[in-house]
Amino acid sequence: MKTLTLTRPDDWHVHVRNGAVLKAVLAYTARQFARAVVMPNLKPPVTTVAQALAYREEILRVLPEGVDFTPLMTLYLTAATAVEELKAAADCPFVHAVKLYPAGATTNSDAGVANIWAIYPLLAVLEKYRLPLLVHGEVTDDDCDIFDRERWFIDRHFTDIVRNFPALRLVLEHVTTKEAVHFVAAAGVNVAATITPQHLLYNRNALLAGGIRPHHYCLPILKREEHRQALLAAATSGSAKFFLGTDSAPHVTESKESACGCAGCFSAPLALELYAEAFEQAGALDKLEGFASFYGADFYGLPRNAGTVSLRQQSWLVPEAYGADAVSVTPLKAGGMVGWKMC
Ligand code: NCD
Ligand code: ZN
Repeated sequence: MKTLTLTRPDDWHVHVRNGAVLKAVLAYTARQFARAVVMPNLKPPVTTVAQALAYREEILRVLPEGVDFTPLMTLYLTAATAVEELKAAADCPFVHAVKLYPAGATTNSDAGVANIWAIYPLLAVLEKYRLPLLVHGEVTDDDCDIFDRERWFIDRHFTDIVRNFPALRLVLEHVTTKEAVHFVAAAGVNVAATITPQHLLYNRNALLAGGIRPHHYCLPILKREEHRQALLAAATSGSAKFFLGTDSAPHVTESKESACGCAGCFSAPLALELYAEAFEQAGALDKLEGFASFYGADFYGLPRNAGTVSLRQQSWLVPEAYGADAVSVTPLKAGGMVGWKMC
């Protein structure tokens, strides 16, 4: 039986929520990853260092005893964010980045930024303090087709941000298109991207062909096969610009299986296994360690982890749901088989 051993990996983009959902999902991320960049799109959003520290405390309280896991906190950028708050974030050892959500782009993004040009003075501050800006790269215009939202964002905003702030450390989060991959690959070393398991494994047929599958609905939305191929090529290229970010985004099953279902795929319990499947499909299992365990840490200027995790090549049936108490969340690939298992 084949076994794959990697330096302990990190998740550079995850949603663990708060309250009862946090209690139900945190252990899955903490089991797979040594560290995770925790997204700030709570209700209300995490816009201050004080809120980020309180959220960090809540996460640490919920963490199962004896589990070695470090949450890396982020701030939610708004038009009203104060320069002093960004300076405090840069000085805080627990805050590692600031997240830009275009207003209305995704789950809990109403407080996000409506006019991106208007926050350029804040981007200058981030550039000065070398605090990474994590970008949800989609326009929200009604006249933009949902499948083009990332491409338009790159043309209209991301290119301009990179040009105006050449030293700003930028992560284009959860990239989904060949245009994003090509842009990031051609940009300077301070521009990187995260890639999710669902965008490596599925194209938009998995969402819409033969029935509508709400558990494959996330934002940015799944794209055509040619885009999936471009993402797989980037993730397995060995380029340090592309690293692991699951974007695991739990919503209780009823909120997904609804006339107006929420966006987000819950992958935390089996994320590494899903990445292993994708890399195996590309004949590039030897490239998984760099993607999962090295490049993200290098980008964030953090030490690579000590210790290892192992995956065994073994088929297993993914449960229909994960959860605790009254919270039940359907995972990606629920009821399907996965060919690798963390051991
Ligand atoms: C995320 C969520 O549910 O918080 N949803 C998603 O579809 N990815 C938000 C996000 O990262 O866009
Ligand atoms: Zn996300």
